[in-house]
Amino acid sequence: MELTTIYLHTRFQVDRVDPRIFGGFLEHIGRAVYEGVYEPDSRHADEDGCRQDVMAALKRQHMTAMRYPGGNFASGYHWMDGVGPKDQRPTVRELAWQSIEPNTFGTDEFIRLCRKMDWTPMLTVNLGTGTPEEARNWVEYCNCPPGTKYADMRAAHAQETPYAVDLWCLGNEMDGPWQLGHVPADQYAIRAQQAAKMMKDVDQSIELVACGSCSVDMFETYMEWDRQVLDYLGDYADYISLHRYVGNRENDTPDYLAITNSIDRQIEEMDAVCRFVQAKRRSKKRVYLCFDEWNIWYKNHETDGEGKFAPHLVEEIYNLEDALVAAGFLNSFVRHADSVKIANIAQIVNVIAPLITQGDDLLIQSIFYPLEMFARRQNGIALQTAVAGPGYDSTHNGRVTYIDTSAILDEKTLHVFISNRSMDEEAEVCISLEDNAISKLENAELLTGGGDPKAANSFENPDVVGTKSFTDVQFTNGKARFILPPLSVAAMSLKTID
Ligand code: AHR
Repeated sequence: MELTTIYLHTRFQVDRVDPRIFGGFLEHIGRAVYEGVYEPDSRHADEDGCRQDVMAALKRQHMTAMRYPGGNFASGYHWMDGVGPKDQRPTVRELAWQSIEPNTFGTDEFIRLCRKMDWTPMLTVNLGTGTPEEARNWVEYCNCPPGTKYADMRAAHAQETPYAVDLWCLGNEMDGPWQLGHVPADQYAIRAQQAAKMMKDVDQSIELVACGSCSVDMFETYMEWDRQVLDYLGDYADYISLHRYVGNRENDTPDYLAITNSIDRQIEEMDAVCRFVQAKRRSKKRVYLCFDEWNIWYKNHETDGEGKFAPHLVEEIYNLEDALVAAGFLNSFVRHADSVKIANIAQIVNVIAPLITQGDDLLIQSIFYPLEMFARRQNGIALQTAVAGPGYDSTHNGRVTYIDTSAILDEKTLHVFISNRSMDEEAEVCISLEDNAISKLENAELLTGGGDPKAANSFENPDVVGTKSFTDVQFTNGKARFILPPLSVAAMSLKTID
């Protein structure tokens, strides 16, 4: 394959990368909470019943904002069911996933887990079957000093010091007909505005995420929903949510890997509607993007819990091509650091997740690695990227270069992420920092899986797809040159001279 050159310039900056783009999502669905992060009977359980093996693996992902408790689950969840002495909490039939919810893991347990993991909690209020007042009460429970009803409850149940939860989502996927309490945009906007006002009346410092379109192609309301909601919510909205699940449904790997074009476009379209409404309202406030559900999801569609506790739901198995697509999402978020401020992989364990538990065992799936490679290099300013090199025309997603990339400058360290989308050819790559020289390699990893797009880890063979240290980088005239195998992802930290 012809040489690909990635052109960068330290002055051509996008914006500082918000660490919250390396967020996660923990929902009460399937075995995500129970048998996932929380399993008091496991031999891995700590003093709070949380699985230490799962926590240790998640720590490697340096996740930041953690969204909880859903998802669709949130639209039927009454947070009061999940606080107080565990033996007095009700077991309920929950309707999002038709499962049994014992409520033994709730707000206090989640916040304790966040503290252990260094996660920023991000709570989704129930705007499906819940009321704006219930949402407001939850803010008081979490954020107010003792002295009033709900804050006193927290002090009695768990701790006197407020939890200081800064980020709150105003419901979940309310444009989707499957959502409990789904309503048209104008009615959601009214509900969300009422909740937002009361929530901010309790704590002015919180930031709110309005429900945006949950799909780019399922509903005719795409963009119009968002316009209406933003227009009505006005300055109450700090962020609007985007969701995206992709898959190789036609078994067309080159097209699947070119999905990055469509992700870029989704972000740019949502940013455009935010700017349109801002201009129309003549507001000084820019609403930013919160990509609070993203992942690959198309192989497993078991979503009916059939009235069971912790059923096996949507336990997707991930392969090498999925890992390249996960890297593609992250590249896109970094490239749009000026608009995307929060992003959460959906989800973190067992349910469409990088980790799977089986009894006391834990499996690391292919999509775990891009997250680990990016998140450990998350500090700095995203740079604009210009890629000159060979490419291809994909079936549905337009033309892409074989190389997909993003870059973050952290003072004299330059982090570059590079995927080779070719299925059969090595890619020779040159990184040229136009106004500076690259002097040496600090460290780098390479994600591979032997070039087979369908290669996947399993409990029997857990190391088919994984990372290894990458050192084969040459430096000539201040530029870095290296060769990437087909279907691989490299993350490198390079030293600049000035
Ligand atoms: O992440 C699984 C589900 O996908 C979420 O609950 C919902 O918001 C989305 O449809």
